[in-house]
Amino acid sequence: MPITISLINLKGGVGKTTLTVALAEFMTLEHGLKVLVIDLDPQTNATVSLMNEHEWKKQNIKGQTIVQLFRDYLYDMRIFSPGEAIVHSVSNIGGGIENLDLLPSSLDLIDIQDELIKIPSRGIFSRRPIGILGETLCEEINCYDIVLVDCPPNLGLITQNGLMLSQYYLIPVIPDVLSTYGIPQIVTRINRLKAETGVQVEPLGLVINNYRIKNSLHPNQVRLLQLDAERTGYNRVFSTIIPQNARAANAMDYSLTVKSLREKYDNGGPYKRYQQLTEEVLSIVIP
Ligand SMILES: Nc1ncnc2c1ncn2[C@@H]1O[C@H](COP(=O)(O)OP(=O)(O)OP(=O)(O)O)[C@@H](O)[C@H]1O
Ligand SMILES: [Mg+2]
Repeated sequence: MPITISLINLKGGVGKTTLTVALAEFMTLEHGLKVLVIDLDPQTNATVSLMNEHEWKKQNIKGQTIVQLFRDYLYDMRIFSPGEAIVHSVSNIGGGIENLDLLPSSLDLIDIQDELIKIPSRGIFSRRPIGILGETLCEEINCYDIVLVDCPPNLGLITQNGLMLSQYYLIPVIPDVLSTYGIPQIVTRINRLKAETGVQVEPLGLVINNYRIKNSLHPNQVRLLQLDAERTGYNRVFSTIIPQNARAANAMDYSLTVKSLREKYDNGGPYKRYQQLTEEVLSIVIP
């Protein structure tokens, strides 16, 4: 059984996708782990930063992206095949990283989310179809050490499917007032999801991203988040902080061909921080 971690935040643009991709690449290249990235976001950001857009579009037309997995459930079809949909050796590093695979997302996922919601349910979470992803992938994911799930910025049914599959959730956060405001709500809502369903996910902690040294409010906000970890229930703030750095953003451009992690993330840029964060995360999930 792999260790599965969902990267989640109700707030958009905090670094879920950037961190998913970086953690996946560091886990494979520096720790020799076999990693699967599942892109659950209809924005498809993780997908297009890990694979060729043209290939992905062809796969989407053939029904071999995540949207078809849910369509099959809704309309009683049998088109999606995990073996065909999972793309092997993805990333722009060295023309693709052996042992890094991707289950691509689709722009059409947004419509499926609306369809799934129409299925009648009792209570907020109970009796909703949240085990579809896990049931469909259960055999295929067994060959991985780590599965990272890049979630959209909501706690809708697609995200709930990701959480159902996960042992942990990790919350990337920008340390400013508006970005941290909704954190208690994430923990509370996930606790409620757990109470009402079979979800057994545990908080792994907060990762501070986009930290600005020159912003005097950021250190203070980090201290508050550290003090609040136990009371709010997100467990910890990772001691590795990812600073704001243009390289973190530029690295997501798949069209750039690079040879190594150091080249992609720049030794003087976020490279060392991602390296440290990966070690910190792995020391907890694989003690
Ligand atoms: N450490 C960083 N320094 C500078 N820019 C960053 C950093 N991390 C992420 N970014 C940029 O910030 C933006 C948001 O990041 P990202 O897409 O990873 O967030 P997200 O939480 O996945 O967003 P969404 O909720 O829309 O999926 C992107 O343009 C990304 O390139
Ligand atoms: Mg994203």
